[in-house]
Amino acid sequence: MSEFFFRNLKKTYPMVASANGVRITDTDGRNYLDACSGAVVANLGHGVPEISEAINGQLRKVAFAHTTQFVSEAGLSLAKKVVDMTPPGFRKGARAYFMSGGSEAVETAIKMARSYFVHRGENQRSICFSRWQSYHGSTFGALSATGHPARRKPYVSLLRTPAHVSADYRYRCKCGFGPGSCSSDECSISIANELEAAIISAGPENVMAFIAEPIVGATLGAAVPGRAYFPRIREICDKYGVLFIADEVMTGLGRTGTTFGMNHFGVEPDIIALGKGMAAGYQPLAAVLASGKVVKAFEDSNGIFEHGFTYSAHPVSCAAGLAAIEYVRKHNLIERVAEKEFAFFKRAEKLLETGIIGDIRGKGFMMGLEFVKNLETKEPFPVDIRISQLVAQEAMKHGLLVYPGSGFLDGELGDHIMVAPPFTTSDEELDEMFELLGETLNKVAQHVDGVT
Ligand SMILES: Cc1ncc(COP(=O)(O)O)c(C=O)c1O
Repeated sequence: MSEFFFRNLKKTYPMVASANGVRITDTDGRNYLDACSGAVVANLGHGVPEISEAINGQLRKVAFAHTTQFVSEAGLSLAKKVVDMTPPGFRKGARAYFMSGGSEAVETAIKMARSYFVHRGENQRSICFSRWQSYHGSTFGALSATGHPARRKPYVSLLRTPAHVSADYRYRCKCGFGPGSCSSDECSISIANELEAAIISAGPENVMAFIAEPIVGATLGAAVPGRAYFPRIREICDKYGVLFIADEVMTGLGRTGTTFGMNHFGVEPDIIALGKGMAAGYQPLAAVLASGKVVKAFEDSNGIFEHGFTYSAHPVSCAAGLAAIEYVRKHNLIERVAEKEFAFFKRAEKLLETGIIGDIRGKGFMMGLEFVKNLETKEPFPVDIRISQLVAQEAMKHGLLVYPGSGFLDGELGDHIMVAPPFTTSDEELDEMFELLGETLNKVAQHVDGVT
């Protein structure tokens, strides 16, 4: 019995005791190798002294000051640091707005887009398009934008009318490409064109924004779009004066081997949402970066963004974020992830021998494994097996943490796991992770063979 409202009241969770590097220990003395950085958060591993010191230093100076009354040095320095990392066209005149988590960042980004148009006198623009199979967060606005059927299902009656277009999901391309993933530019462009059709049908004068993850994370297991997709999206947004919001809560600040996930596609968004790895789990921290173009609309009007949270730009969180970014820069960790990407994905190839993986995809240290019952037809596993959960549970028994996801095909079907270790993971630790994952998947493959 407990007073704690667990995520699942029917499940027992081990009690965390301590963590160091890529290893977490529970109070029963069991060790876990963290192959998913929690939920793709602990990008620098656990127990980095420089970050704890920065947090303590800020606590000794001042723990809290409200953003209606003060600005902190940590907030100003972090804004400069993170804006300096944005692409050149975005950066000039850009500003950063800080909050505590990714859902708040998405809410803020959407409200910022709306305020941009209100400041410009284009009051009728209020539709934000997004994509099916995406994840943007759990609060109402962010969940309205989310396109994951299973996560939306219990709350659909509370959400905004869906304004979703298809994601460029290469493994299950609409052209019906056989085993493997489609790489046709034409397919990517035709999927991007769905956005144009949707804008025209809604009336461009009513549309304010389009939000998308550069590489879909939690709900589609690191699905990378074709190279032609985002350039075409940018063209469409420009044509109709629609703001393009990149949800980089998972992909931002190095996870995919580049500073931003959108860098892979050579496209500059108008607004960027960041979270998760920004303070690497040392404090709750997220951000919305507004490009110079967006900021200008506020500056040209009354300068007010009618929005805010009690914990906006919390000084301790900002100090943690600053220390985390400095640590990434000092140890060249983004470059390290890019360098190690090939060997990281090479290690996963052996897992295909289990016969239950239809697709291995991703970028940098962000890998998704999609499970299928039939490799030829891509038929997913039946719902009652819930294979992604089975894998995650079996992995824990082997002392390994992976990040499972399901229900992305129709609200029920579709299973994947993500492997997304801290950027600091050594080669030996990566070997150990894939060894344990191989053992886990072999065990699960034998089990499902017996029941399907
Ligand atoms: C792309 C993306 N956006 C938004 C969120 C929501 O972030 P949070 O859980 O911190 O509210 C997540 C979380 O997984 C995410 O991956």
